Amino acid sequence: MPRDKLTITSALPYIHGVPHLGNIVGSMLPADIFHRYQDLRGRDNIFICGSDVHGTPLELEALEQGVEVEDLAGEQHEKVKHVLQKFDLDFSIYSNTHSDYNRRQTHDMFLELYCNGYISEETQVLPYSEEDGRFLPDRYIEGECPECGGLARGDQCDDCGMLLEPEELIDPYSAISGSEDIEFKETKHLFLDLPQFKSDLMKWVKEERPVPGSSLKEVENAIENTEKRCITRDIEWGFEIPVDQVNNRIDERGLDVPKLDPDVYNDKVLYVWFDAPIGYVGFTRELFDDGEEWREYWNKDSEIYYSIGKDNTIFHTVIWPSMLMGASNEDMDYGLPHYEFIQQFLLAEDTKFSKSRGKGLSTREALDMCPSDYWRFYLAKNLPQQHDSTFSWSDFESEINNVLNDTIGNFVNRTLSLAEQWFDSEVPFPELENRDEQIEAEALRIVEEYVEAFENHDLKTGVEKATEIARLGDRYLSEEEPWNNEDRREETIHVSLHLIRAMGVMLYPYAPEASEKIGDMLNVDIHTEEGVDEFIEPLLGNLEPGHILGEREVLFEKIDVSKMKNDETTSESDETAENQENVSFEEFQNMDIRVGKVVGVEDHPNADKLYKVQIDIGSKTLQTCAGLVNHYEKEELQGRKVVVLANLQPAELRGEKSECMMLAAEDDSGAVELLGLQKDLSIGSKVR
Ligand code: MF3
Ligand code: ZN
Repeated sequence: MPRDKLTITSALPYIHGVPHLGNIVGSMLPADIFHRYQDLRGRDNIFICGSDVHGTPLELEALEQGVEVEDLAGEQHEKVKHVLQKFDLDFSIYSNTHSDYNRRQTHDMFLELYCNGYISEETQVLPYSEEDGRFLPDRYIEGECPECGGLARGDQCDDCGMLLEPEELIDPYSAISGSEDIEFKETKHLFLDLPQFKSDLMKWVKEERPVPGSSLKEVENAIENTEKRCITRDIEWGFEIPVDQVNNRIDERGLDVPKLDPDVYNDKVLYVWFDAPIGYVGFTRELFDDGEEWREYWNKDSEIYYSIGKDNTIFHTVIWPSMLMGASNEDMDYGLPHYEFIQQFLLAEDTKFSKSRGKGLSTREALDMCPSDYWRFYLAKNLPQQHDSTFSWSDFESEINNVLNDTIGNFVNRTLSLAEQWFDSEVPFPELENRDEQIEAEALRIVEEYVEAFENHDLKTGVEKATEIARLGDRYLSEEEPWNNEDRREETIHVSLHLIRAMGVMLYPYAPEASEKIGDMLNVDIHTEEGVDEFIEPLLGNLEPGHILGEREVLFEKIDVSKMKNDETTSESDETAENQENVSFEEFQNMDIRVGKVVGVEDHPNADKLYKVQIDIGSKTLQTCAGLVNHYEKEELQGRKVVVLANLQPAELRGEKSECMMLAAEDDSGAVELLGLQKDLSIGSKVR
């Protein structure tokens, strides 16, 4: 029996770039699938995630751009959050690790860990740059990889993945100033004393089996070889160390642990990997406004799930559980992970998706090409649950066209048109025969297998089960031919509608939009607040004869990958053409480019990616259809001064006039920014 409360977390994405499909498939999608399944069952669960904002890449990026890292973090966080929402990730909260709630939670846990004797001071020898006047931790130092000769950072080689110590780098230099004047100096840092938890960790892993079999050996080895881990850094971006709080408590309670030296520790921050997992708890506090309720989701009686990619395994099976144990006391027992979904890698044509190296498809690009349901369905079906899986365009196309469209979509469409044609969209009264009961029994068996898969932490089999229902129904319709066979018409349509209901529910974790649409077409709720804990019977049972169905809609559309990819490559070849062929000054002058002001923005009635925008260009107001839905909120556009090509050949985009164009820049990651003005010039000013 599941426990009262379920907490479902997904690894927190870094935000120095927009997540790519590998990030989605590695942690957020599996967590969302599991969360939606629990919702179907009516179980009290929360789904927690947020941006992992501390750490060196963002600080370096801010340095490069000459902006405050806190501002950059806020901006990037909003961008990432926006894209993730488009992927229909149904978070209970999506916060970020720099939040005050997380600061409080991080300091609380640090205090407990320190005062319980699990954090100790060590002296380290670290690279120091005279020119920058600072230590160069992690990515602040770069050089040649001793293993592969590629570009490596102080902690890891990006090319071959090898973990490194900074002194191993060949010809190291500062990533800030480029200075090669690097010295190795002594400095004090705080370390988490992981070996103290070794036997408890081993017991937990062996007895509770909290990880998939494919990760078990790796986890056991990691526990066996665990060492102290440094949790502080000589940088500015991160949470401060609660030095006073610690020292006060030591005094108050007369504790037998050394005090922290403010001269040393006031200038350091906590390491990003210390406060990031604490975000799971911090965000839960935020979700409940710091009321007592959050504790119901973080204790040994709640069932806490994690969803991570395999590169996060050690952090979630050794370090984080140790932190949870070490920070627990009589009043507060955080509980250990109940189960960790660990995904292997999704490979794009046999290389790993990588944000920093710009490989693979960004989530934004993917969503520009087709609806999120299509991606979710395909990615879930190819979830790298046990082995790496490979993304391939031809495979994607055939899954969408043959399975989603021809199998699932067709069965729904066929049945509903027959119901419309013969029964005026009313569920008919059947007199069930053996054959019909057999079909229902068969469907029940499939639903049971679906449930069983989820209860066994298998998140991908459910896709196959939903598809199996459609196949079953399709075969049944073809055999019974209700269009010819008047005698059997009521029965076959009645039973087929039940199958659609079951399939609609089963699709909810995978393709939520389609699932809701099926609900609308059947005029039933796909899931209710209470859920259906007795899942199996009601799933098939509650479409009573006489029930009026809703309106029929198109569920899916076929895709043509070569066309979608062409759209991509045209923009690329346009760029090259532009670089090669010169434009005469005259040609340029033919373009009427002006300063305009957005005076109206609304959703395009027939296209989800477009806004219908009115732009005042001084002499008149022009309308344009702009593909900015994934990039700007309406409020951000309203009143904004923009640069407009005013004499564009008018066209119609999905039934709406488009007679000018706002100029914008787009980078390789798909980030888009409208051109604007530094100084406020009047509307109608000409660009030349
Ligand atoms: N940001 C890390 C990554 O993408 C994951 C952090 S998970 C958490 O690899 F546990 F720290 F939250
Ligand atoms: Zn290397």
